[in-house]
Amino acid sequence: MNKSITIISAGLSQPSSTRLLADRLGEATARALGDAHVDATITVVELRDLAHEITNTLLTGFAAGDLATAVETVRSADAVIAVTPIFSSSYSGLFKSFFDILEPRTLAGKPVLIAATGGTARHSLALEYAVRPLFAYLQSVVAPTSVFAASEDWGSTGGTHGELAVRITRAAGELAELIEGRPTAPAVDEPVIPFAQQLARLAVSR
Ligand SMILES: Cc1cc2nc3c(=O)[nH]c(=O)nc-3n(C[C@H](O)[C@H](O)[C@H](O)COP(=O)(O)O)c2cc1C
Repeated sequence: MNKSITIISAGLSQPSSTRLLADRLGEATARALGDAHVDATITVVELRDLAHEITNTLLTGFAAGDLATAVETVRSADAVIAVTPIFSSSYSGLFKSFFDILEPRTLAGKPVLIAATGGTARHSLALEYAVRPLFAYLQSVVAPTSVFAASEDWGSTGGTHGELAVRITRAAGELAELIEGRPTAPAVDEPVIPFAQQLARLAVSR
């Protein structure tokens, strides 16, 4: 059996600690699935590379090119790992904008692991008061453990030991269990009708 996991990483720096955390979570989830004899195919969506297209889509209502491919990758995934840097004590604007352009119910019923990076551990609860409610609204099935990595968590071991590593393993195990308990997402579904086209149809039928 093979399950597809899409990682959404909203880090802006290069190299990005958000991407580092996202990769760790992807590897740990693949390991946890492997323990249950399930293969994982992991695809990474780097929102930094799509920032201009995301803004265009907010203005036009229509995703094209690489952004359309990324949206389809998210829609068809068996699970999502969503990782944002914390900006002003919440998710970043780029992270939120990506979810704003998804069609309603794209993430409904989908297992999601939420994680964030920040400069201070004092803002770790942003995952619980900002990120988790976003995915509750999107009707995702969010893993109970969220993972926050502050600058000091990376330390001399690069986060491979200690509290961060324990949380990564626990959260990944929870996501793997959610994935295993669900049927594999269909590869092909009905075509996505652009919002402008749906509005035009509504106008004609009135
Ligand atoms: C505009 C801005 C606002 C930030 N606000 C916060 C904040 O409120 N709390 C916090 O812990 N870190 C804050 N940070 C630090 C970033 O969350 C942190 O550096 C993050 O890990 C960067 O991720 P990246 O390396 O993937 O770009 C802020 C950084 C920027 C640039």
